[in-house]
Amino acid sequence: MDPKIKTLNDKLEQAKLGGGQKRIEKQHQKKKLTARERILYLLDEGSFEEIGALVIHRTKDFGMDKQTFYGDGVVTGYGTVNGRLIYVFAQDFTVFGGSLSETHAEKICKIMDMAVNVGAPLIGLNDSGGARIQEGVRSLGGYADIFYRNVQASGVIPQISAIMGPCAGGAVYSPAMTDFTIMVQDTSYMFVTGPNVVKTVTNETVTSEELGGASVHSTKSGVAHRTAANDVECLEDVKKLLSYLPQSNREFPADHKFTFQDEIRDQLETIVPDNPNKPYDMHDVIQGVIDEDSFYEIHKDHAENIIVGFARLGGKSIGIVANQPMYLAGVLDVNSSKKAARFVRFCDCFNIPLLVFEDVPGFLPGTDQEWNGIIVHGAKLLYAFSEATVPRVTVITRKAYGGAYDVMNSKHIGADMNFAWPNAEIAVMGAKGAAEIIFKREIASAEDPEAKWKEKEAEYAELFANPYSAAERGFVDEVILPKDTRRKLIKAFAMLENKDVQQPNRKHGNIPL
Ligand code: HXC
Repeated sequence: MDPKIKTLNDKLEQAKLGGGQKRIEKQHQKKKLTARERILYLLDEGSFEEIGALVIHRTKDFGMDKQTFYGDGVVTGYGTVNGRLIYVFAQDFTVFGGSLSETHAEKICKIMDMAVNVGAPLIGLNDSGGARIQEGVRSLGGYADIFYRNVQASGVIPQISAIMGPCAGGAVYSPAMTDFTIMVQDTSYMFVTGPNVVKTVTNETVTSEELGGASVHSTKSGVAHRTAANDVECLEDVKKLLSYLPQSNREFPADHKFTFQDEIRDQLETIVPDNPNKPYDMHDVIQGVIDEDSFYEIHKDHAENIIVGFARLGGKSIGIVANQPMYLAGVLDVNSSKKAARFVRFCDCFNIPLLVFEDVPGFLPGTDQEWNGIIVHGAKLLYAFSEATVPRVTVITRKAYGGAYDVMNSKHIGADMNFAWPNAEIAVMGAKGAAEIIFKREIASAEDPEAKWKEKEAEYAELFANPYSAAERGFVDEVILPKDTRRKLIKAFAMLENKDVQQPNRKHGNIPL
């Protein structure tokens, strides 16, 4: 063999081995794939092109000049997922625990720049012990170079982070600034300070899993948007998520085949109970309206009083925001407002129309909510909807009360079409509470105050607890039968397809963060 070719082949073989066979086996023992296996699983067969396979670090300190590995702990490049271009980096835990050196960061930055310039999603497969300790500030600088690019890329290309191993210290801030974070159960964790520091500073004893495992971040903190049982499921999940998204903010999501047929869905007629105080599962409404098996839920186990996720309607990608009467009666609170606001802003960045299903009794009262800033957090959702210029349609399935009526994509804040089902109640508050306040004196002085209260409640309900006073003013465009909802929505979104709103010129707004 030509010696030049032999040299090249040897180097590439070494690059493929990462930190060596023993460390690869250790990775497999932990039920983790290696960086290269992950990339090969994620991308279409034969599509991966590696960039920077022969990069090595430049550190001489601590005897590091005698320990170099081609690739320097991260595999970077591009390829396709279902035929569409993506850029990918996968940290290689077999090389210095996937820790981030100056050159490791340079490799990631290189593909981030290309992804932004070309306009294609960036997928980060994270598995790293954090900053390469031997490199000191050079490593910290490398992180900051990545953070900066995360922000420049935000709203330009979709950025997805899969957390497939440790992610600790400041390293968590790159995933946090990407659009979606998917964590693998049992093998991944994320925290700013680990259990040892926690013990020293607060004397609290906690495991890595309890502090920042997938279950904690998908329920309590909301840091993780989705969780996966293992590496393969995680990579499948990334592929599925990509299918709803455009390549960049310059494009629209890809359409799926669809032929308009009989779009009446009788099952929608019986979901909402006659008793307005009885809960029902808003997922049933969503499933009844969207294309079959197309719902991809985000933050499923976090702030469950609101449901958000992607779906297809008539073959087109949409973002759904829906109150969930099954959980806290579907009220808006701090966490649900933040969850929905972030999702609305993502959809608006990437030309994904928004569909809202509304059944909301108002904001959650109480000191806990007020002291935790429901005013400012609720305002986030109000702001997010108000600034969104994508096609926006609302269906009021039952209650639309108080400030929450305004917030949940009302016409007043820029929604294009609002539909209401015939049993909808659109009012300042529930009839019982309203009667108690405005007929306080009459009720108190009545011979039978309880009967009087009931009478006044019925009077108020007759006047306001229906969709018609809103429809008379045009705040609701049409009162529709539940079974006709899918048909109406497909037509409404098709009508809105070419919506184009010019915003006033400004640097950026000041969302109440
Ligand atoms: C250099 C590292 C490293 C690091 C791990 N290694 N982390 N090398 N810098 N940060 C090396 C180990 O020396 C070891 O090398 C190999 O990677 C595998 O590590 P193990 O400890 O054997 O693996 P495991 O038992 O699975 O434990 C993984 C771990 C642990 C929990 C991640 O390695 C660990 O705690 N690492 C340090 C984490 C840390 O404190 N990072 C800095 C965070 S601060 P050999 O040669 O033995 O295979 C930070 C600041 C960023 O990141 C700020 C940005 C703004």
